[in-house]
Amino acid sequence: MGLDFNQETFRNDFTFRNSPKAIRRFPFPFHEDGYMYSVNLEPHVPGPKGSVFEHTFDVDEHYVAEMRDRALVLAEDPLRCQSLPHMTLAGWDLLELIMTSKARDYPHWFELHKQGDKWHWINKPLEIEQKFTFGDETTLPYGPMEYITRQTQGDFSLQDHRDDNLWMDAGMITTQADWSLDFDVGMSFHEWHAPVPLAHEKGIFDRALKFLLNLQLGAPVRRFNWTMTVDPLLDTSPETYPQWGPTRASLTPETIGKRMHLRVELQTLIRLPRSNAIAFPIRCYLIKFDELVTVPKWGRRLHRVIRDLPEELAVYKGFARNRPMMLDYLAQYDDGTPTSPGIWPD
Ligand code: HEM
Repeated sequence: MGLDFNQETFRNDFTFRNSPKAIRRFPFPFHEDGYMYSVNLEPHVPGPKGSVFEHTFDVDEHYVAEMRDRALVLAEDPLRCQSLPHMTLAGWDLLELIMTSKARDYPHWFELHKQGDKWHWINKPLEIEQKFTFGDETTLPYGPMEYITRQTQGDFSLQDHRDDNLWMDAGMITTQADWSLDFDVGMSFHEWHAPVPLAHEKGIFDRALKFLLNLQLGAPVRRFNWTMTVDPLLDTSPETYPQWGPTRASLTPETIGKRMHLRVELQTLIRLPRSNAIAFPIRCYLIKFDELVTVPKWGRRLHRVIRDLPEELAVYKGFARNRPMMLDYLAQYDDGTPTSPGIWPD
């Protein structure tokens, strides 16, 4: 069956690592030697075999460990998962989308059997088997969104579409880059994006919202976002900032290669059929600098991106203090030669 999942942790002893295969398929987000915010949306169509774009929802070697970490976060803070009462239907839409996609794309790990509204779900990696009635919450141990996102890598927010706007009215958010569902729940598109520098002035959020309000069923889109995280911590939330914030001041030239991680979010935007809500899966991938520079093109390019990034972005993303040390490390891997276009390794 090949249940090949890492035994690893995203806290305390931080045993998280990427295998050589996971490094080669890492979603490096920079297609050129520089970076600025843009409306970087493209159709979420199947990509090269073996890549993170191959399937609607990528399941990789970190799956089981990430789900364990999510359960720990929720046990400590149940408010990381919230769904306003009118969002239950969107939760069912999401459950259907994920179960159908996973059973189709990974039949050796997931099975879904349906007889009318009587559904039977089998998740072999997590050893879960559940018979339930689609649409009847009382037949599941959690609400539908919580049930399925406890079994799916990445954060999820669900946006209600009304009054020509999107409202973040539900979500499962445990692997976020320093923002809080409990703070944002109920907000509109421009409100939850308020802290982002430079992008509002450039009209990026006006254009992005306009695009999303026209998002069609069956035509999902995707984009990358990225930041930096010290230690492979999935849960970098404002709620736990006192635990992880100070670690940013503890990097040294000797430890930076092991401890500094490029954190990439593969975000998809998917219109849901019954509720007309928009699902926003935010899949987080981590790679330590020492792993990243094993791909020479990525080491060279990351050095140039970080070197030339506007200060406002480095401050917002929380690595302005460490930028000189990051550049000293990355400069060793930049011989000045040109890089090929696109994100893939040469
Ligand atoms: C409905 C879908 C979306 C949701 C739920 C969402 C949510 C968020 C949240 C919660 C943040 C963090 C803000 C903070 O600092 O508190 C953020 C940041 C951001 N969002 Fe979105 N977003 C969505 C769609 C988009 C789209 C389509 C774009 C395309 C331009 C976009 C561009 C950005 C940018 C540039 C940032 C700053 C990220 C960084 O530099 O690390 N977002 N978003």
